[in-house]
Amino acid sequence: MKPLIITTSLVVCLALPITTLAQPNTDQLDQEARSIAKQFLGELKPTLQKSMKSDGPVKTIEVCQVKAPKIAQDLAQKTGWEINRVSLKPRGESAQPDQWETAVLKRFNAQVASGTPPKKIEFSAIVTANNQTEYRYMKAIPTGNVCLTCHGSNLTKPIQEALKEHYPNDTATGYSKGQIRGAFSFSKAL
Ligand code: HEC
Repeated sequence: MKPLIITTSLVVCLALPITTLAQPNTDQLDQEARSIAKQFLGELKPTLQKSMKSDGPVKTIEVCQVKAPKIAQDLAQKTGWEINRVSLKPRGESAQPDQWETAVLKRFNAQVASGTPPKKIEFSAIVTANNQTEYRYMKAIPTGNVCLTCHGSNLTKPIQEALKEHYPNDTATGYSKGQIRGAFSFSKAL
C-alpha cells in the first residue's frame, strides 16, 4: 500500500469548511528540522570521534548504543518533535523504518544513484494517517570513512563479536563510502 501523502494545498482544500485551520508554515518547519539534525550531529559526531580515539572502536559501540538514543530523547524533550534515526538495514532498536520512511529511504538511494550529493538529500511532507496529521522530515546520513569500521564490509573480529553481542539481529554492515547509511526522521503533530 502506498503511504498517504497530502500536500499543503490539498490540506487547505479539505479544510475549507473549517476556516479556523491555519496553514502550517512549512518553510519554518523545514528550518526547525534542519536545525535539529544539525544539533544531533553536532553532539553525536564529536562523541564518536573522541571515543574512537581514546577507547577504540569496540568500546565505542557501547557509546553509540547509549549516547545516540539519549541525544534523540533529549532533543525530543527540548524541541517537542519526535526524533529518530532509521535505516533500510537497521541496527538500533528504533531504527526500523515505517512504510512512509521506507519509501523515502528508497527515494534517497535512487537520488544518490543518479548523482545527487548525499549531503544535500532531504524530504518533507504533511502526512495524514489514522486521522492524525503531522509534518514529517527526513535527511540522509551518508557513510564516511570512519563509519566503515562498524558499518563496512571488512569488520575486525573483535568488532564482529561486539556487534553480535549487543545487536544479535544487526543488518547494518556491508556499506561502502558515499552510500546512504540511514536518515534522520523527525515529525511534529499539526
Ligand atoms: C564504533 C562503531 C560505530 C561507528 C564508527 C559508527 N557507528 Fe553508526 N552505529 C553504531 C551502533 C552501535 C549503532 C546502533 C545505535 C543504537 O543502538 O541506537 C549505530 C547506528 C547508526 C545509525 C542509526 C540507524 C541504525 O541502523 O541503527 C546510523 C544512521 C549510523 N549509525 C550512521 C553512522 C555513520 C554515518 C557513521 C560514521 C560517521 C557511523 N554510524 C559510525 C556503531 C557505529
